[in-house]
Amino acid sequence: IVGIQIAPSILSADFANLESEVDRLGDADLVHVDVMDNHFVPNLTLGLPVVEAILARTERRVDCHLMIDEPDRWAAGYAEAGAHNVTFHAEAAAAPVRLARELRRHGARAGVGLKPATPVEQFEDLLPEIDMLLVMTVEPGFGGQRFLDVCLPKIRRARELVTRSGMDIWIQVDGGVSDETIERCADAGADVFVAGSAVYGAEDAAAAVEDLRRLAAG
Ligand code: DX5
Ligand code: ZN
Repeated sequence: IVGIQIAPSILSADFANLESEVDRLGDADLVHVDVMDNHFVPNLTLGLPVVEAILARTERRVDCHLMIDEPDRWAAGYAEAGAHNVTFHAEAAAAPVRLARELRRHGARAGVGLKPATPVEQFEDLLPEIDMLLVMTVEPGFGGQRFLDVCLPKIRRARELVTRSGMDIWIQVDGGVSDETIERCADAGADVFVAGSAVYGAEDAAAAVEDLRRLAAG
């Protein structure tokens, strides 16, 4: 069990200067990279070539959040490239068990993401196959949205299911996580916190990471 981890999302970084943007994250545990395809979500960001370029320029662990259709076809490439975590969306995967196994076989931690309206109970059978459950706390697609409080019971439920399973599965929250909302997320049972605008919108990104960590620790 690793404990609290802070994962700044480069979605809110300067895309023309990704190397220095990743550099200035201080003691962040992971770098969260949002891959969007204009189909699964109404926004387009970056894909495998950019993730490979980031991996080549940093020692940090890269956490890929794939908001894409047909992850069964594309996700393994990110694991092969050396991402630490690869998260695909439950709503988009045709064969989630097979895909999670493939990710692990390539040496990545396998994550499954759930949009706000997707119930966690539906995916309880998947737990033995995965290393992280991502509970979205906004509709995926854009940074800087307002945290959806209605998702808090789902984080609690996810924590119950993970505890009951006895497995070492991280529970990640993503969307609207800030100094105003992170304590509620931690209290509900999350342990990996994605923050885009809260980190890159701050004057000192590394200090923002430590503030979030302190608040999450309670
Ligand atoms: C949104 C992305 C998030 C995004 C979060 O769909 O998955 O990772 O960067 O941004 P904030 O922290 O600003 O809500
Ligand atoms: Zn994300």
